[in-house]
Amino acid sequence: MAAETQSWVLMATARAPTNIAVIKYWGKRDEALILPINDSISVTLDPDHLSATTTVAVSPSFKQDRMWLNGKEISLSGGRYQNCLREIRKRAGDVEDEKKGIRIKKEDWEKMHLHIASYNNFPTAAGLASSAAGFACLVFTLAKLMNVKEEHGDLSAIARQGSGSACRSMYGGFVKWTMGNDADGSDSIAVQLASNTHWDDLVIIIAVVSSKQKETSSTTGMRESVETSPLLEYRAKTVVPNRVLQMEEAIKSRDFASLARLTCADSNQFHAVCLDTSPPIFYMNDTSHRIISLVERWNRSEGSLQVAYTFDAGPNAVLIAPNRKVAGLLLQRLLFQFPPPPESELASYILGDKSILHEAGLQSRKDVEDLPPPVEIKDKVPSQKFPGDVSYFICTRLGSGPRLLTDENQALISPETGCPK
Ligand code: ADE
Repeated sequence: MAAETQSWVLMATARAPTNIAVIKYWGKRDEALILPINDSISVTLDPDHLSATTTVAVSPSFKQDRMWLNGKEISLSGGRYQNCLREIRKRAGDVEDEKKGIRIKKEDWEKMHLHIASYNNFPTAAGLASSAAGFACLVFTLAKLMNVKEEHGDLSAIARQGSGSACRSMYGGFVKWTMGNDADGSDSIAVQLASNTHWDDLVIIIAVVSSKQKETSSTTGMRESVETSPLLEYRAKTVVPNRVLQMEEAIKSRDFASLARLTCADSNQFHAVCLDTSPPIFYMNDTSHRIISLVERWNRSEGSLQVAYTFDAGPNAVLIAPNRKVAGLLLQRLLFQFPPPPESELASYILGDKSILHEAGLQSRKDVEDLPPPVEIKDKVPSQKFPGDVSYFICTRLGSGPRLLTDENQALISPETGCPK
């Protein structure tokens, strides 16, 4: 296996982004391989604001595979982790680190144990697709450490077996997950439609909505929809194939009105499928509905689509604005209706790219309190405010795909102990 001493530790560290679907994935045709019943399209979010960072270490001194997530040891015995580890080990290549005097032959990887540490730079429990970033990062980092030669597309089919939407986090910008036809899932892979620089004016604002309700997991929800919703079959066979073509065209030509129309319609149909499921599933709450009304009212009063909204399997709103100016106007409207609760400062209520606050002309809580009602609600319903109903906002943009972090200081595992720092 290598080296004279048995005390070495070899590591790789990488960071991978999360993503949000604008054409939704809902429903599997194969539960074990995680094969979907329709194509989906997503935007990859800026890893500076929403990403997973993972270090994978190998050493002859490790006695078993172990993993720590956000500092806490977790079990790797679940099928999803085991699938990813098995598929990457199968494809491992020879690895040599001349400086450290380490050589690992490809056949040795099956016998060697790994220590994995991962950290999400956003709250794991906030319902922001942390498993998409997490499994994309795990597969990417394992592949780098083990010198796997497969292309990103093939790696995406492995990430898919950890968490379906993780395959889309293997690329930056706009990404399509093609459902594929093969029984073994080898053609159910992600492809990049356009990089993040293709349409870099877009601004994304996420409203992390306070929720005490225990949500139905996506896995359970999807299964129940496949079993009981007639609308889901119609959606997958008839609606999505056309929408995917239209969305690809909208992305190619940077047609914001079409992107917004398709994004909102697809989110609404996904939630209609949830209601069409027996028993019905409610992912959105009153706050989610108020955000939809805010956007719809504004779009209608302008006579053109200013902003798009989309909601995954939870109450958080993901809002897409065509540029920083419109994002500033959106933030004014959101903060007017959902001001920071009394104890929180404006700076800690807006995470990510805080410069959107300047775009909105807002520097303090006082500026938010002084905001006039938006023109479209003046003189109509008395403007209600809901402090505390949004936990915080994250302002972000499109981002790039996974990348290796070569600075050893960024490793999450100590080379001395082989355990998290
Ligand atoms: N699930 C949620 N976050 C994760 C991460 N960073 N790595 C692996 N699985 C995860």
